Formats: sequence, C-alpha cells, structure tokens
Amino acid sequence: MSRTPIIAGNWKMHLTKRKASALAREIASAQGVRSNRRCYVFPTYVHLDHVRRNLRGSDVKLGAQNCWHKKEGAYTGEISPYMLRDMGVDVVLLGHSERRHVLGESDALIADKVKLALKAKLEVMLCVGEKIEEREAGLTFEVLARQMKALKMVKPGLADRVTIAYEPVWAIGTGAVATPEIAQEAHAEVRRQIAANLGPDVAAKMQILYGGSVTGSNAAELLSQPDVDGALVGGASLTIDKFAPILAAVQGA
Ligand code: 13P
Repeated sequence: MSRTPIIAGNWKMHLTKRKASALAREIASAQGVRSNRRCYVFPTYVHLDHVRRNLRGSDVKLGAQNCWHKKEGAYTGEISPYMLRDMGVDVVLLGHSERRHVLGESDALIADKVKLALKAKLEVMLCVGEKIEEREAGLTFEVLARQMKALKMVKPGLADRVTIAYEPVWAIGTGAVATPEIAQEAHAEVRRQIAANLGPDVAAKMQILYGGSVTGSNAAELLSQPDVDGALVGGASLTIDKFAPILAAVQGA
C-alpha cells in the first residue's frame, strides 16, 4: 500500500509576520514540487495570508491551527472554516492536544469541527494522543478509540480529505520522543480504529503522522515504521535548518 508521506510544521503561537514569511519561502524552495512527499505548514491565523503569498509556486499546503464549528454568527474571536477556505487555506488542524488540554475542547466539540470543516471543503488533520497517566494506566487504546470517534462525522467519499496525527501528549515539546516501536504500536491501533469507523479500504489509504519531539535525528527511524506515514513537527519546524533534515528524511527525497 503506498501512502504519500506528509511532513507538516505546526508553528503554534510563534514567529513574527516577517519571520513566518521568510520561513515559508525557505520551505517552499526546499519542497519545490514533489511527488514523493507532501509538505504542510500551519502558521497562526494572522500570518496565513502572508505565508500563502510566500508559498506561491510550490506544492506546500497551507494549514490553519484550528477553526470554529459554526459557519457564521455572533462568536466573537472565533474563525469559521468557510473564512479559512475563502482565504486560500487548504487544511485545518483539529483536536490538537493543546486545544484539548489547555483550552478544554471536548471530543464532541472537535467532532462538530471536523464535520463543518469538511463541509467547508477543507482537509482535516485530526490529532489524537494519550496523556502520560493514561498510558501508565494502560488506557492508551481506549483514549485513542474515544478520540477517533470523531471520524463518524466523515461522510462516505470525504475520507480522502482526512489525515490523522498521533501525538502522545507526553512527547510534545519534551524531547521525550516515542520510540519507533511505541509509535508503530499506537499507529497500528489508530489504523484499526480508522477501519472500525470508516472501513478497511479507507484505513489502508489514510495517512497517520507521528508528532512529539520529532527532529532531524529521529525522523528517519520513525518514518521507517510501516504505519508511520509522516511527521507533525512543532519546535523543529520553526527554522529551515531544523526542518529541512526532517523533509529530507522521507525515503527517496
Ligand atoms: P514538538 O515537535 O515541539 O514536540 O511539538 C509537536 C506538536 O505538538 C506538533 O503539533
């Protein structure tokens, strides 16, 4: 089964307009137009338009870090997925662990966001992952199964616009990257959950990215696992010196 690997940079609440634009140009030139890997960047909302202009001519996809679950209305401070689409955004990250655990987003809210984002013709990258106490209590698969229920919102025919990012919370920003074996075990379970929700054909095709302390030194080994189809990178996506080696870690890149 060939699944085109995806290397994605989640810039979180970092960078200035000028730095984000420059980084976009550097990534666009490192990526060029490729068939053996895809590249996504997720700047903060206020930098989206600048980054979009600086990605021109490359096949890097433009992503937003979040959206609201309503099309329009009195929701001060929120952003509709339709507004993102209108601005030229391709993909939206939903259910990131910082949204779940710092901002208190529930599985039900995230599922509603998945539904509306797909309706707005965006791609969705759904993030899932367990906390350390959940792993230690042997609850990892249960947590993943609960979070993956958001896939019930994906109508037949729309599954090719969805990817999953497995990001164990204990590995995010800590330097405590999952071993390739732990990543593979969780990814295989995520794939089983995709099959349970959307069927085996969809499960065989859907990319599952690993996220959590990915660097140029550990990316190749993680990517060599059979169910690891890419990386969602935080800290190491903020400079081209750190991000380019991760892009290059895709086999045949
Ligand atoms: P780090 O790569 O900084 O651990 O962040 C991972 C992440 O949360 C990407 O979404």
